[in-house]
Amino acid sequence: MAAGRKASRSARRSAVTEPKLTPSLPAHDAAMIAPGSGWGLRNRMARIVQPDGRSVMLAVDHGYFLGPTSRLEVPRRTVEPLLPFIDSLMCTRGVLRTSVPAVSTTSVVLRVSGGPSIVGPNLANEHITTTMREALRLNCVGVGMSIFVGTAHESQTVRNLGELVNEAEDIGMPVLAITAVGKELEKRDARYLSLCCRLAAEIGAHMVKTYYCEDFEKVVEGCPAPIWVAGGPKLDEAEALELTYNSIQAGAVGVDMGRNIWQSEHPVAMVQAVRAVVHEDYTVKEAFAFFSELSGR
Ligand code: 5RP
Repeated sequence: MAAGRKASRSARRSAVTEPKLTPSLPAHDAAMIAPGSGWGLRNRMARIVQPDGRSVMLAVDHGYFLGPTSRLEVPRRTVEPLLPFIDSLMCTRGVLRTSVPAVSTTSVVLRVSGGPSIVGPNLANEHITTTMREALRLNCVGVGMSIFVGTAHESQTVRNLGELVNEAEDIGMPVLAITAVGKELEKRDARYLSLCCRLAAEIGAHMVKTYYCEDFEKVVEGCPAPIWVAGGPKLDEAEALELTYNSIQAGAVGVDMGRNIWQSEHPVAMVQAVRAVVHEDYTVKEAFAFFSELSGR
């Protein structure tokens, strides 16, 4: 059923896009990367976004400000079983070096910002903590950092982004800007997130990660860079699959999801259900049935 759906979606897409493309370029390459980007940057992006133009990124960077948070106490134990089902992994260099086998071929987007912790005075007061050289040495295909728009550290974190993009452009490294809200989860509405995403894209982010919200298509429409959606705090599996489905329907390229996968009682089943929504166009009902079948729940 899913394979058929995917095949017909791909056929529809290529019917629309083929005449505009150089035959050797996959559809998403030409559609998503700014003309003039070098081969290295396009190649790294192609290792994050799959040929169907969609992407499942697994976020396991939470320890950089939360410490050993629930179900991520021993990162290796959380990460290893999920690696076969994701397109890329988002983590810090510490987790990468200690908890991901060096033989892994999974693409890595490296979290390069940090500083404040959950018990400190201000989560927004971030700096760039990891160099571009380190990202290259670790064989990463992208770097990610947070901006905190509307906080006292707005200008500092947006400047961090600009400087990171300047360095990244020199070597063809895609930059993921994360529109972080810290503890202020109530900020997640279309007006605020549209502002954050647009700002990130204008400063030069090649990829933007944000939260799902009502009227999410407006956020997507106003952001010229591709968008990944974070899961946020743990929801029921059906709700998390609905969030994924709605995000994709509204135009997100994919998810950069953490807790709603690895805090599930059945993370391996959950990651496959999320993947089915992103890459196979499963409906919420189909994806939840798939999750139930895999988890035996
Ligand atoms: C924190 C992050 C996290 O990676 C992000 O929140 C994604 O994880 P989750 O799906 O658990 O929200 O960038 O700033």
